[in-house]
Amino acid sequence: MTHRLAVLISGSGTNLQAIMAATDSGRLDAEVVVVLSNRADAGGLSRAQHAGIATEVLDHRQYDSREAFDQAMITTLDRYQPGTVVLAGFMRILSALFVRHYAGQLINIHPSLLPKYRGLHTHARALEAGDQQHGCSIHFVTEELDGGPLIAQAPLDVLANDTVDSLSKRVQQREHLLYPLVLQWRAEQRLELNQNGVMLDAKPLPEQGFQLV
Ligand code: GAR
Repeated sequence: MTHRLAVLISGSGTNLQAIMAATDSGRLDAEVVVVLSNRADAGGLSRAQHAGIATEVLDHRQYDSREAFDQAMITTLDRYQPGTVVLAGFMRILSALFVRHYAGQLINIHPSLLPKYRGLHTHARALEAGDQQHGCSIHFVTEELDGGPLIAQAPLDVLANDTVDSLSKRVQQREHLLYPLVLQWRAEQRLELNQNGVMLDAKPLPEQGFQLV
């Protein structure tokens, strides 16, 4: 059976676009069955609609609590029976309720080489620190914000004349390569999280995850 992906977005959805391009070309043997956004104006929604993919908008401001919003997301997403829930620029902190419901199925991409720079403004912080390397990370989501076990990273060299703009563009290019690759491992049932950590082909990955060269 084709692996079913639910993709959660809040913004422009360039990662979503890269995932859809990979499913179209056959590099990723999976189907995006739903795109869910907490913002009705997220650019990624029209990308999905153009591709004929179901979209759902749940506005977090219309719920009394984080848990109530997350429960509504669970109810909506479960109708699509996702095999993997893919966070692709989804800018909401998730409750324990949500994270536990999708334990081992919930994956996030973050624009830094975690554990460096959890949270926001990662490119500016890497530049300010004078880092020679920066990049992106994909990890299983746990209750600790941007703290779940790492699956893969794509490092890149910071250039002397890099700005937040130039650096974020290059990081995003790496994200667009890395996410389809990792999701293909899920589609092939090669990647899982168990009591021994992150397993690829039944072997534990190193702490920093797979490194894309
Ligand atoms: C991506 O760069 C992703 O790493 C980041 O949001 C961007 C979404 O871009 N995610 C986070 O910062 C999560 N903490 P996109 O909407 O164009 O895919």
